[in-house]
Amino acid sequence: MGVTTGVLIKAFIFDLDGVLTDTAEYHYRAWKRLADEEGLPFTREDNESLRGISRRESLTLILKGRVYPEEKIREMMARKNNYYLQYIHELSPRDLLPGARELLDEIRAAGLKSAIGSASRNAEEVIDRLGLRPLLDAISDGYSVERQKPAPDLFLHAAAQLGLGPSECVVVEDAAAGVEAAKASGFRVVGLGPRERTGGADVVFPSLAGVHLSDILSALAPAVRG
Ligand code: BG6
Ligand code: MG
Repeated sequence: MGVTTGVLIKAFIFDLDGVLTDTAEYHYRAWKRLADEEGLPFTREDNESLRGISRRESLTLILKGRVYPEEKIREMMARKNNYYLQYIHELSPRDLLPGARELLDEIRAAGLKSAIGSASRNAEEVIDRLGLRPLLDAISDGYSVERQKPAPDLFLHAAAQLGLGPSECVVVEDAAAGVEAAKASGFRVVGLGPRERTGGADVVFPSLAGVHLSDILSALAPAVRG
């Protein structure tokens, strides 16, 4: 079963942090705590370029060329992750962002599939705390592939798990790196948030609030035809 927008759409692949739940804020707070402890300058603005970026690559960007021994790097990544785990400990289905649950339900009701394509190694824990697992047909996370976003590998991994090709899937992303990853490999892309971040997507919404499956499919139709 699928929905026709010129080409048959059979699935949605969702990024997790910042798309279905506001864990992007917790990633920021955890990095900020580490940066403050280490005396490293780090602002919310700096954090915008870390969206979608792996833990190690994020730290490399925060260090801005400062060189540390591998052992210290690992310790800092572990410390940040401990802070992050503390923040997500209380996460529950109430922390799904507005519109997320409704869209997942509509996708399922239309006979389409849903998957997660998240660079996070904590994705499974977040998914379970949000109660999302019964609505998902596949999960690709920070353990699934070597090369993380903006490489396309993670979304290709998710599509392969669904048994589909990129042209049959819509990726939903809040990060520039994720939009780039998906566009590079021929997925249709819905961007969420400011255009400076997601302007490379085929269609951009401020968030999923009030966005229905039919809105996405009709907004994508010109991109498919064009
Ligand atoms: C992405 C987040 O989903 O996962 C990034 O947008 C984060 O901010 C990355 O760095 C890796 O997450 P984790 O949980 O493995 O440190
Ligand atoms: Mg994200």
